[in-house]
Formats: sequence, C-alpha cells, structure tokens
Amino acid sequence: MILTTVEIEKIKDFDEQGFFSSTYLAMDKRLEREVAVKDINVKGKVKEEDVEKFFHEALKLSRSEHPRILPIYFVGFCGTGDEAQIIPRVVTKFMKNGTLSAVLRNQYETGFTFPLDTIIRYSHDIIQSLIHLHSLDILHLDLKASNIFIGDDGKLVVGDFGQSRFLIDGLTEDAENLYPALMPDEFSKKSVVDKTADIYQFGILLYSMCCYDKYRAYLEEEYKIDVEVLKGLFGESATGTKEDIKEFSANLKRYKKDVNNGLYSKGDNYYNYIPGKIIDIISKCVAQKVEDRYNNFYEVQSDLNELIFPSGVSSYVEEIGQDSIVFNKDDVGCLINYSLNDVTNKFSLVPTKGATVRRTKIKEKVTNTTLRKEILKLANNL
Ligand SMILES: Nc1ncnc2c1ncn2[C@@H]1O[C@H](COP(=O)(O)OP(=O)(O)OP(=O)(O)O)[C@@H](O)[C@H]1O
Ligand SMILES: [Mg+2]
Repeated sequence: MILTTVEIEKIKDFDEQGFFSSTYLAMDKRLEREVAVKDINVKGKVKEEDVEKFFHEALKLSRSEHPRILPIYFVGFCGTGDEAQIIPRVVTKFMKNGTLSAVLRNQYETGFTFPLDTIIRYSHDIIQSLIHLHSLDILHLDLKASNIFIGDDGKLVVGDFGQSRFLIDGLTEDAENLYPALMPDEFSKKSVVDKTADIYQFGILLYSMCCYDKYRAYLEEEYKIDVEVLKGLFGESATGTKEDIKEFSANLKRYKKDVNNGLYSKGDNYYNYIPGKIIDIISKCVAQKVEDRYNNFYEVQSDLNELIFPSGVSSYVEEIGQDSIVFNKDDVGCLINYSLNDVTNKFSLVPTKGATVRRTKIKEKVTNTTLRKEILKLANNL
C-alpha cells in the first residue's frame, strides 16, 4: 500500500461544535484551499471492524456526489502521538456561506420570521438531496439546520452524514446516537428505522424553518434536550449528576409525548403567516406511526407543489409579536395587520399597500380556522 500524506493546517475551530465530533476550518497546504475538517470523537481504542466500517461508509458517501450534497474531499485517520488512539477524520468542502441555522438565527434577530417563499424554495432543495440519497439506500438521520449549508449558488447543500447509516434490506438497526430531538418513536421502541425516519426529521426541520425561535425555545428551555445539555451530561467534560440524567430522561419522555400529541402539528404552535398546507405536510411527516407518514420524498414534494403561493409576492414574513404579515407585492411594500375582537372572537384584517390602507370585504368575518387562508388570499388580491 502506498500511503499518501495530505498536509492540512488548522486555522480555527468553528464557533459551534456538535456532540459527536470536533469540527474546524483548515488549509489544504498543497491545493491551497480552505477545507472543513471533522475529527470524530472516539472513546478508547478503535477496533479493526470499526475502521473497515468507517471507510465503507465514507466510500458510499463519496459515491453520493450530487449538486445538493456536500462534497467529501478525503477521509483517513489522524494519529495523536499515542499510536493506539486513531481518530477518524473526514475532510469536506468548506462552505463559506455558512449554515442554514446561522441564516435562521440572523433573520430572527431582525424581529421577523423566515420568508415563506424561501422556506418553500429551500424545502425543494433539501427534498432533491434526500431523493438522491434514498435512491442509493443511504439514510441521513441527522437532518437539522446546522447540517445544511448555503451553496455558492444560493441553493442549499445537505451535509454531515455523521449519523448516517446504510440500509440493509431497507432497515438499519445500528442507528445509535440519534439526536434526542430528532428521534422518531420507532427508534426509541425498537432501535430500528427506515427511510421514513428521514421524513420525520425533515418535518421537524421544516417546522424549525417556519418557527425557528419557538423551536429553539422548545429544545433549550421547555424540554432542555439541546446539544449543550447533551454535552454537559454525556460529553468529554461532563458534569451532570445521576439526578441530572434522570431529569433529562423525564424531559425527553415529555418531549416525545408532546410531539406525538401535536407539538409540531397544532396550528397554535405556528405563526399565522404559515399556510395550513405546510402544517398538514409537517404533521404527516412527524406522524407517530411509520405507516401514517409519507412513504417517500416524492410524495412530500408533490404535496408541497400543491401549495399555491400568491403570485408577485416575495419576502413574506411575520413581524414577531406585532400581529402583522409583511411582504412585497410586485415590488411594493405591503402589510396585513390582524387583530382579534375579544367579543365576537373574530379577526379583522387591515391590509396596507405602499402608503394606502385598502378596504377589504373579508374584514370582521375571519375565524381562527380561516385566518391563515384569508391572509394568503388577501396577499394574492392586494
Ligand atoms: N463543511 C463545513 N463548512 C462550513 N462550516 C462547517 C462545515 N462543517 C461544519 N461547519 C460548522 O461547524 C459547526 C459544527 O458542526 P458539527 O457537524 O460538528 O456539529 P453539528 O452540525 O451542530 O452537529 P452534528 O454533530 O449532528 O453534525 C456547524 O454548525 C457549522 O457552523
Ligand atoms: Mg454537523
């Protein structure tokens, strides 16, 4: 065997670090390009069979080359001086435009939600990538905004198959280490997942695009099951006590129960700029029973195509805490204000286009169940 050395030099750690690896920006010194390096956290001595498995998985990943999938440059091991300790390393393209999670975070800091037209466009990008992976019998199993990058062309690129497993006869039994928030019910019960597990995770990802602040608040405050909590309890420098772990298990159980009871499917948990069709799609993706979910991403795509987004409308967002939807219609700034009349329990909608308040026939007739539809209708007719 001819060993080839690839010279890379660490530049800096990425701001955020996952639970299963250390990730940093580095320079490939010979090709003079920046790369992203991921050193997988391993505990103890690496077994020969794990080494084989690692390379086998990497091989599959390199074969999954696709415009919507993060390119792998090379894989190998990095010694740490102690020869017994070999750390699996994956080197990929460095995505200079950053992650979808950073984009979502920045957008919410402006006080507005993420634009619905972009959510729809991005969903199609992700679906393209998953259709391709599933055609190769590869599951992703770690679909979340921090693993999705903004490509050079502005389209999304799905990366980070850290948790991906390969399907044998359509099922995989070794899907250990799934992130708690993304773990479908069948995994907790039988440790067996199939392609619908990715569909389940896509549902949660779509929810996070629609309501990023609510989603983060669930993970960080309401259920306390985010990566930082995991690191504190199970990471290398864990400080959690037995009691803390018990509390975490109880929180996780409560989260799963609430997901099964509609955390991601109840209209109340969504902003009003999100159409009912999207809520229906997410509900079907995150259904507790595998047989109630979509069978494949073509079905998700087809339902998404049925959503009629008002023509000429762009940058359709909700102003957080202001009960108003803001957008451009044919390049003119528009706003629809909705307010609930406590006596009649109906909403009144006040649309403004440019500097003019428009009169509207549907004013005062809107109920909680028709609100989303009427807002979209109004945006279309404005
Ligand atoms: N190829 C890449 N190009 C640019 N930034 C990257 C790349 N890979 C990772 N990052 C950055 O590093 C951060 C941490 O990535 P990492 O994959 O280690 O953790 P994670 O995505 O939060 O969790 P997971 O372990 O489930 O993937 C990401 O949020 C991203 O900002
Ligand atoms: Mg990642």
